[in-house]
Amino acid sequence: MKERIVLAYSGGLDTSVAIGWIADATGAEVIAVAVDVGQGGEDLDVIRQRALDCGAVEAYVADARDEFARDYCMPALKANGMYQGKYPLVSSLSRPVIVSHLVAAAHEYGASTVAHGCTGKGNDQVRFEVGITSIAPELTCIAPVRDLALTRDKAIEYAQKRDLPIETTKNNPFSIDQNVWGRAIETGFLEDIWNAPTKDIYSYTDDPAFPPVPDEVVITFAQGVPVALDGVSVTPLEAIEQMNRRAGAHGIGRIDMVEDRLVGIKSREVYEAPGAVALIEAHRELEAVTIEREQARFKREVEQRWGELVYDGLWSSPLKRSLDAFVDDTQQHVNGDIRMVLHGGRATVTGRRSTTGLYDFALATYDEGDTFDQSAARGFIEIFGLSAKQAAARDQRVGEA
Ligand code: ARG
Repeated sequence: MKERIVLAYSGGLDTSVAIGWIADATGAEVIAVAVDVGQGGEDLDVIRQRALDCGAVEAYVADARDEFARDYCMPALKANGMYQGKYPLVSSLSRPVIVSHLVAAAHEYGASTVAHGCTGKGNDQVRFEVGITSIAPELTCIAPVRDLALTRDKAIEYAQKRDLPIETTKNNPFSIDQNVWGRAIETGFLEDIWNAPTKDIYSYTDDPAFPPVPDEVVITFAQGVPVALDGVSVTPLEAIEQMNRRAGAHGIGRIDMVEDRLVGIKSREVYEAPGAVALIEAHRELEAVTIEREQARFKREVEQRWGELVYDGLWSSPLKRSLDAFVDDTQQHVNGDIRMVLHGGRATVTGRRSTTGLYDFALATYDEGDTFDQSAARGFIEIFGLSAKQAAARDQRVGEA
């Protein structure tokens, strides 16, 4: 029996050519795997047929949007996942769900190798390969663009020579990666980091300079996950999609940054993630009401590390698993409603309500009904400040001598 290779297939030029390119270079049979994570564009059936027309022996297609929202975006929301405090991990989150389908397809079709179309300069090659070996250490990975020298010019030449059913003339100046959680835009004139993004690069967001009338939304959370919008029950996917539309209409979640790639390169990326940014803001505010102070302080450190692990392709690593257990434990009481106004590029929380919160009106109030014992504060401060006071007194003594 011939060796079999599963290929992460997008339906685009590079991976369409890769089917024959890999078969020629290795003598293996190629199985194309296409996973819908909300990237839009063509229908899965069209993509399946193209894969077969380009020479794949089988095509595995999966609509993974619900799975992606529930098992990847929701953990990111619970962790308030933001790389370098800004980037909601859009591409980093989709690679692990694609990986899980690649591995499932490899097992189903008896393949020993997984191929992907990434170049050798980005994070995604790491996320695919480390992701695969972290759940299926017996599989081998190849990257035709990187390892089999499949350049764009060669891809066009190959597609024309073999008469493959794929567009070879369209050349988008940008490299775009999009899914349910957001959209990443890079390359082209954005590589000059002084150049401002132009309006035409955006698609999930409208210009925040000309917003429609303010939109007020009430988001209901249960254990850290949105379960209703304005009182109407939603699935995780519906929550994200509806917030993408509503926050997107106000230009919320546009991010322009220079980020540190794992491979050592600083790169300019523009993102738009209206739903993710609004949901994270709402979630953070509900946590402020429901999570105990020390747990909340520690969680902020965990969140940063969680985001770095996910960015670095370590979704299935032991440390990430341990941090997930911590994050899940903190979400037990993150229940209640957040009222938020979406307007002019900002998602602003204006109200919070929780039956499992720690906000105590009687302790907080400066009006009638105060139950806080102010006389206890004096002794507390005396002892709390004692070591700093001792050190200051010592510094004075030493300075005088
Ligand atoms: N820099 C981001 C990341 O590494 C996004 C990369 C996605 N690719 C793209 N073609 N824009 O997660």
